[in-house]
Amino acid sequence: MHPVVGQIFDAFKLKGSERYGEEEVTQLQHALQCGHLAMKANASERLIVAALLHDIGHILDDRDMPEKCSENLNDQHEFRAHQFLVQQFGNSIADPVRLHVVAKRYICTRNPGYEKKLSPTSLKSFHDQGGKISHEEVRQFEDEPFFREAIQLRHWDDAAKDVSWVTPPLEDFATLIEASLT
Ligand SMILES: [Fe+2]
Repeated sequence: MHPVVGQIFDAFKLKGSERYGEEEVTQLQHALQCGHLAMKANASERLIVAALLHDIGHILDDRDMPEKCSENLNDQHEFRAHQFLVQQFGNSIADPVRLHVVAKRYICTRNPGYEKKLSPTSLKSFHDQGGKISHEEVRQFEDEPFFREAIQLRHWDDAAKDVSWVTPPLEDFATLIEASLT
């Protein structure tokens, strides 16, 4: 196994069984479901990897994850993930991940009904992250080369929280991850 794939698998082994805030799914379940939704949508291989690894910033963090929504849920995990992913995979994977938080704020700004689709934890983090965005921030987001991919990823992210859903294991993604390394 490539050492970077090993590093990713180790991170999931170490913290993949943890839950973020009051989410019902574990970090590993959430990642696998998100990657799987991207696959089912016939996304590009790079966007499937981005979907799978979009929350890797949570599990690459030495700090314990918050266990209650009353805690501050704005942990900047998208930037921690980007720092790691851009070196290993380049912008087409790292940028949709960096943008997946602002993508939620963008979607909720453009479509206020979307807030109702968010889990309680995701709604709380939406507010902690600053809530709706300004016209200028909308423009900045739409100027990002990978903003459409970030929106797609965000929809899978919000749908990937089903505790009853059994997905194929992480190992099934190993070849795809390795093939996506720069
Ligand atoms: Fe997520």
